[in-house]
Amino acid sequence: MIDDLWYKNGVFYCLSVGTYMDANGDGIGDFKGLLRRLDYLHGLGVTAIWLMPFQPSPGKDDGYDISDYYGVDPRYGTLGDFVEFTHGCQQRGIRVIVDLVVNHTSDAHPWFRDARSSPDSQHRDWYVWADKRPASASKGMVFPGVQKSTWTHDKEAKAWFFHRFYDFQPDLNTSNPYVQAEILKIMGFWIQLGVSGFRMDAVPFVISTKGAKVSTPVEQYDMLRSLREFLQWRQGNAIILAEANVLPETDMEYFGKDGDRMHMMFNFHVNQNLFYAMASADSRPLAKALKATRPRPASAQWGLFLRNHDELDLGRLTKVQRAIVFKNFGPDKNMQLYDRGIRRRLTPMLGGDRRRLELAYSLMCTLPGTPVIRYGDEIGMGDNLDLPERNCARTPMQWSMEPQAGFTKSDKPCSPVIDKGPYGYEHINVAKQRRDPNSMLNWTERIIRMRKEVPEIGWGDFSVIATRDPAILAIRYDWRNNSVLFVHNLDEKPREASFSVGLAGDEGKHLINLLSEDHSEANNRGKHTLLLEAYGYRWYRIGGLDYLLKRSDIDGVNANHPE
Ligand code: NOJ
Ligand code: CA
Repeated sequence: MIDDLWYKNGVFYCLSVGTYMDANGDGIGDFKGLLRRLDYLHGLGVTAIWLMPFQPSPGKDDGYDISDYYGVDPRYGTLGDFVEFTHGCQQRGIRVIVDLVVNHTSDAHPWFRDARSSPDSQHRDWYVWADKRPASASKGMVFPGVQKSTWTHDKEAKAWFFHRFYDFQPDLNTSNPYVQAEILKIMGFWIQLGVSGFRMDAVPFVISTKGAKVSTPVEQYDMLRSLREFLQWRQGNAIILAEANVLPETDMEYFGKDGDRMHMMFNFHVNQNLFYAMASADSRPLAKALKATRPRPASAQWGLFLRNHDELDLGRLTKVQRAIVFKNFGPDKNMQLYDRGIRRRLTPMLGGDRRRLELAYSLMCTLPGTPVIRYGDEIGMGDNLDLPERNCARTPMQWSMEPQAGFTKSDKPCSPVIDKGPYGYEHINVAKQRRDPNSMLNWTERIIRMRKEVPEIGWGDFSVIATRDPAILAIRYDWRNNSVLFVHNLDEKPREASFSVGLAGDEGKHLINLLSEDHSEANNRGKHTLLLEAYGYRWYRIGGLDYLLKRSDIDGVNANHPE
């Protein structure tokens, strides 16, 4: 059954083991600590954990510089601890996906060390070399302002090597069949240890042509099919969630028109337009982005996120739009990064305003896709802008009022715990919020539960409902003879919204509020009129609460009128 696909309708949670919980007291989070926190995640209701890189690494890019694909960095534990962790997840019905970082390795990886040692070495052709500095060397940097070039001279190799990211991350020559075979082997290894798939790093770069002579890199989309084939052969229900910040025109190249490539992609296009919508109280570009990213195979899904571990990349907005987001959410230079984004966490961006946070989360949970929550956002954690680049939003999880927020017994945590100001751990922590029925944590838990009871979002077709007010976004989903409707007011002022839900006959007359008692009845012309408070949101079932009795078992069949 297609509705068995677990990733289509779940709630993902991303974390890095190093900043989650330290059980052995050395100041660095570890798998033993994470294992002890699985009941917390189970209670929160998340259905999958995305684990950021934890393999051996010099740690110059927070683990995205891997020096051994088949191990666990000893700071985090052992392979044995890792399997205890995947087993613990399995017992609680939580899936695990792990980062697959194969665009590049660390320069400390034995493959690169061998490759640079001689032109005849076995691994020379695993990387991308040039004898002279290529003309394109000062183009295509991913971290402008920090990274100066995409080609660096290596003394030992007596040649230049290509690196899309930092100069300690040499790009793998992903067109080399030996490299391709190794990538499959890496996937097969982690699958065998209990993971249900991968968040694949930097996909457009992995599949691009690379080399000194390549002036315009071309994506080799077929590579995506071979990854999927292999994965599906080894484990039928495993997935790949692609990190690909691409234009909507190419989405279907990534998903595959027969649904034979990536299972999921992060929706960067909607992400940027969502922040613009929140900054400008204008939902129109967001509605346009939703429509532009509508086409996808039935088995594919979007990953919807607000903030992640990187900067909020606004590179695809217009200059004017970007300026509006900067002004509202990251006005100081110190809050911005790489000339295109904001490096803050969500809560400080939204001024710690609970109404805006709920609005943002309500949107993330009700736009088409599977929501992906960043650890700590469920309690409204802040950032530390004194830390460099993206590290400001990677501080340890704040568990309690205990020293170091209960993250570690050591007084030297790997990254400083936030202990000052309104976001300090004495104010913002899990233990405190657990006790408070109105806390952000308990609100998040409730909204996750409700999200899971509305499979129409993950499975259904959506329509943006016209309300004539740009500050109001109304979306209806239809699936198996049921419909739901979500209305959001992006403005800081209350708004009255008037609309008809757009269903034939009497269907759309009654709106049953899923989160509070104020239901809505249409007037005799079939119109609903709602008063939404500033940043208000409503989740409705259309019709009544007998929806499960009405639900059909197969797509496209009306249960009341079986054929
Ligand atoms: C994307 C990751 O999200 C980012 O954190 C990392 O620096 C680059 N890829 C390079 O791996
Ligand atoms: Ca530790």
